[in-house]
Amino acid sequence: MNIEEITSYCKRTGIIFPSSEIYGQMPGFYDYGPIGVELANNVKQSWWKNFVQNRQDIIGIDGSIIANPLVWKASGHIDSFTDPLTECLKCKKRFRADHLIESKAEMQSDGLKKEELTKIINDKKIKCPECKSSLSEVKDFNQMFSTNIGAVNGNTAYLRPETAQSIFASYKAVMDSTRISPPFGIAQIGKAFRNEISPRNFIFRKREFEQMELEFFTKKDEKNECPFFEEIKSMKLNILSAEKQEKGISKAEEMSIRQAFEKKIFSNKWQAYWTAESINWMIGLGINPEKLRLRQHMKNELSFYSAGTVDIEFDFPIGYKEIQGIADRTTYDLTQHQNLSKQNLEYFDEKTRKKEILYVAAEPSAGVERIILAILFSALTEEKERTVLKISPKISPYKAAIFPLVKKGLESKSKEVFDALKKEFNCFYDESGSIGRRYRRQDEIGTPYCITIDFDSLKDDSATLRMRDSMKQERIKIKELTEEIKKRINKSQA
Ligand code: GAP
Repeated sequence: MNIEEITSYCKRTGIIFPSSEIYGQMPGFYDYGPIGVELANNVKQSWWKNFVQNRQDIIGIDGSIIANPLVWKASGHIDSFTDPLTECLKCKKRFRADHLIESKAEMQSDGLKKEELTKIINDKKIKCPECKSSLSEVKDFNQMFSTNIGAVNGNTAYLRPETAQSIFASYKAVMDSTRISPPFGIAQIGKAFRNEISPRNFIFRKREFEQMELEFFTKKDEKNECPFFEEIKSMKLNILSAEKQEKGISKAEEMSIRQAFEKKIFSNKWQAYWTAESINWMIGLGINPEKLRLRQHMKNELSFYSAGTVDIEFDFPIGYKEIQGIADRTTYDLTQHQNLSKQNLEYFDEKTRKKEILYVAAEPSAGVERIILAILFSALTEEKERTVLKISPKISPYKAAIFPLVKKGLESKSKEVFDALKKEFNCFYDESGSIGRRYRRQDEIGTPYCITIDFDSLKDDSATLRMRDSMKQERIKIKELTEEIKKRINKSQA
């Protein structure tokens, strides 16, 4: 399947469609439909359970989208959060210079300066893709969306371009209201906004999207004291090092996390650990491990706040692309906020009586939409007579669908089963069309279990349980259905 096919599949099934499309499409903005909202909520709940609730060392917050604009001054976003832009000198259409070079000259241009990008555009004679006229010099384009607060003009504020800053800006309030001590993390799931020059590839690059982020703080000299490193060090990953990319090699090589740490692909052991945790979580959701690789950022492409970043990339039909970054953000953000706010953001260690700004050893930052896209590309399968979304039952929008075999005579029993099951799971009731068509509709949206009530059900209190992937059917006592489905979901069998 390619991006266009996934786009039309998502629209047809009510997973995702363009926002306010009746007025024409607004690039970069999409809505979740009735199926997509359930899928996205399940992905987010799974992340929250795995990275916050199941742990003692992580706490969560939910920050506001608009913050004091000084937050963005301190963080560096107002000055440095830019993408390279080139404009057609005739039709005035604007393009992201690095993307244009990537598609027209088939060369990587990550991290190149605007002067270097301009030179490539001139040398390679790249023209406006719309009208074939010449392009302008490359300029910096700030990606922040601005708005105005209150009735006074000029009271500019920004929609957050990353959720991370809410964590740093609320850090003092969190520390004052909890008794947490390092190493610990603060997590958040929420919306972020970037005025992307050229949003594209369906939900891969949007202007409004959601992030699941975790800032993991340690003492500076303890960033390699990760008690879990032993558990993950033998895990093998496909890794593309910065060194290889700098030599023009694009083939990743398999190595263990320990080897990658020794080769300094990871900046510290906590970064290695959170990478492993993130990949294991993704695989648990059903993302195909064979399509994942880890790519170390080259020096010239590191974000302004990072001492070392690795990206988890998925092999999409458009090539390997980032679905999550894990940056070593150092003490950059807290130091910046301490300096500008004049508030003391140091951690005071009662034992040693020493104060220090804590170090963000790892910032796992995943996009909800890109995780969903990787899930769809891993799980959507075209079979001879059906399209089936072989998604983990844990995140499927509906856990079960209940069908009366025929409309008349079975309604009361079927509704009884539906009412009992929906107390436990999100379920769907469908009495229209042939049983075959009803199965197909559920297969397409990944419902792992279909339950058919027939006339025998009225006599023996049993129903037919049909499994999505194998299409096998079993007869099962109605009173055992809830527990049986729960058991299978936990074992993730469909
Ligand atoms: N706080 C760090 C940060 O924001 P990032 O690499 O810019 O880092 C993190 O973004 C993740 O957010 C990416 O891995 C991606 O999944 C998601 N993301 C970033 N820009 C996006 C966009 N325009 N559309 C959809 N997802 C995006």
